[in-house]
Amino acid sequence: MKLSQLDTPVLLIEEDSFLRNMKRMQELATNAGIAYRPHAKAHKSAEIAKMQKGAGAVGVCCAKLGEAEVLVSHEIKDILITTPVIGISKLTRMMQIAKEATISVVVDNADNLAEMAAVAQTCGVRPDVVIEVDVGQGRCGVQPGDPALQLAYEVMNADWLNFKGLQGYQGAIQMTASFVERNAAARKAVGLLTDTADLIRKAGLPLEYLTGGGSGTSVIDAASAGLTELQPGGYLFMDSRYREIEWDDGNSIPFEQSLTVLASVISLPEPGRCILDMGLKAISSDGGPPSPVDVPGAVFKFGGEEHSELTFEDGKCPLALNDKVAFVPTHCDTTVNLYDRFIAYSDDEVVDVWSIAARGRVQ
Ligand SMILES: Cc1ncc(COP(=O)(O)O)c(C=O)c1O
Repeated sequence: MKLSQLDTPVLLIEEDSFLRNMKRMQELATNAGIAYRPHAKAHKSAEIAKMQKGAGAVGVCCAKLGEAEVLVSHEIKDILITTPVIGISKLTRMMQIAKEATISVVVDNADNLAEMAAVAQTCGVRPDVVIEVDVGQGRCGVQPGDPALQLAYEVMNADWLNFKGLQGYQGAIQMTASFVERNAAARKAVGLLTDTADLIRKAGLPLEYLTGGGSGTSVIDAASAGLTELQPGGYLFMDSRYREIEWDDGNSIPFEQSLTVLASVISLPEPGRCILDMGLKAISSDGGPPSPVDVPGAVFKFGGEEHSELTFEDGKCPLALNDKVAFVPTHCDTTVNLYDRFIAYSDDEVVDVWSIAARGRVQ
């Protein structure tokens, strides 16, 4: 089937660039001697998680328990949940999947830890616990240094929990435009994590596992060699915002744009203006408006939940009714979550369909 025959709006992956991105990130980690555990929150797809495992990933990360449940049911059996799992109901759900898969989970709170240990004992499973350290983002996480050490003691003292290591993710710097500034900030964040790990080791606790990093700092995290595991996710697709930052001193971008949304022209209300069938429900807006591919002179505007428009200052719209236009999303994670499936293509032909089985699984 040709792309032009697809009903729209539709989520597309250009397969060749997507596979090159996957290979490049795996090589970046492997060449640095670091494990790679891609973040599945970007794609929410069991098929893609399996491809990443096939390329060498040790497992995947999930942001939410619900994502992990879906992936475990599709035979993805090694998952780190990178957001705290709180309350008896969710902890019980987590222990259910921990019976059939290797589940690790981040923790930053002693009460959560105590409840988790009790639920683990009741369910008869022993999950791996990773202490989340706030390395500068100001989101979840205990402070580096002594607060992390105190929580590590608590994990060690909990009979039904295994102390696996530390997570430190500095999301706030992933899109820092200047490579020099991002490099310094990423090394500082990893330094906070490795200093904390040293403190914990000096106290006599076993600790080898340090996980973190995103797409924007991936090159730096691989080179600085402080982490033992990388977690980037969005590089597979590349948000357009990621293409606007400096990637290294020479400003070469190691990853390619592979994800787009294809829309159709559904109305030509006046010269110089056309309406498309892609609104706020079909492409994300939280990172700013998307950009049309290969439509010179077009100015994009959302027209509500179901529509958007392109206007042309010269008053001449080059598009006809039912013409297709591809758009690059500014934020891929939130765009992917709007769709049931990816359509993979090469040249102009559809080559595969991958289900986004964990879309909408925010609990
Ligand atoms: C804990 C954690 N690790 C890794 C990532 C991956 O970041 P990216 O999509 O920039 O690769 C995220 C993204 O928000 C995250 O929250």
